[in-house]
Amino acid sequence: MMARVITLENVTRRYGSFTAVDRVSFTAKPGLVTGFLGPNGAGKSTSMRIMVGLTSADEGRALIGGHAYADIPNPSRHVGVLLDASAQHAGRTGREILRLSADTMGVGKERVEAMLALVGLDGVEAKRRVRNYSLGMRQRLGIANALLGDPSVLVLDEPVNGLDPAGIHWMRGLLRSFAAGGGTVLLSSHLLHEVEMIADEMVLIGRGRIVAQGSKAELLQTKGTYVKPLETGALAQALAAAGIAALPSGDGAFRAEADPVDVGRAAAAAGVVLVELRPAEGAGLEEMFLQLTADDAREPLQTSAPQAPTATPGAPR
Ligand SMILES: Nc1ncnc2c1ncn2[C@@H]1O[C@H](COP(=O)(O)OP(=O)(O)O)[C@@H](O)[C@H]1O
Ligand SMILES: [Mg+2]
Repeated sequence: MMARVITLENVTRRYGSFTAVDRVSFTAKPGLVTGFLGPNGAGKSTSMRIMVGLTSADEGRALIGGHAYADIPNPSRHVGVLLDASAQHAGRTGREILRLSADTMGVGKERVEAMLALVGLDGVEAKRRVRNYSLGMRQRLGIANALLGDPSVLVLDEPVNGLDPAGIHWMRGLLRSFAAGGGTVLLSSHLLHEVEMIADEMVLIGRGRIVAQGSKAELLQTKGTYVKPLETGALAQALAAAGIAALPSGDGAFRAEADPVDVGRAAAAAGVVLVELRPAEGAGLEEMFLQLTADDAREPLQTSAPQAPTATPGAPR
């Protein structure tokens, strides 16, 4: 396969009058881990199912290396997919599942053993039936299955669900080395911090729409300026006169929506003395994500107490 880029162009999917995925466009590039982040119901799984041809798009298209997934011959040799780790046949053992996949893909049995070892499923676990696997073990098996065909692209839907911190650390190492070898990784998550730990690039989705995308560094950066004057009222006036929006930030300081140099100029022009002037800190991404989680969850409203985002169980949908 040629370039290993995943490209979505204006992908739209409706269910009746409801638009689950709304003109979604983004790319995931080789050599990078791209995190596809959004609250439950945002449209991540639907988008990923469209990428691998399991759901059709009403409009737009999803291409992998320039091809629709359905047009790629023996696709598992190019694209490793993990969509729903709990969908594996519960009555089979981990090793049986991988051997069946290996047969279908035309890869040897030794690759099955290598992948079991890679994901840390030991001899006893490989012989156990999948119904007796924990979610974390299922995720490991799912990753082994995705890697079985030695693909150059990975599409993983919520692979971190059910993993403990050590498992997340392991997953991070695995995906990073896959990307470092030139592979393309797209992984979805509804948990900001998990994605933040693993991904280089982030695509943020809410209500079926992309709301932000860029490198992690770009997205974590908060634009704006923290400015503290000697006289609060005087600075408020100076900023207003310069057309710079600002919010009180406690202790007589402001967070202004402009670069420090412009805030400094506005203050100087009005003869306002500043005691502090610096780029604002803060987790821009976190604010954005909390906002999405707060007004964007598409589950029916709970009548009980509101849920904190981290309290949402990681059940794959
Ligand atoms: N087959 C379907 N029929 C009707 N609605 C669906 C179907 N699949 C997904 N949806 C709806 O589309 C929205 C997006 O779902 P999904 O892509 O699973 O979100 P995410 O993976 O981000 O949690 C949800 O509101 C979901 O209920
Ligand atoms: Mg999902």
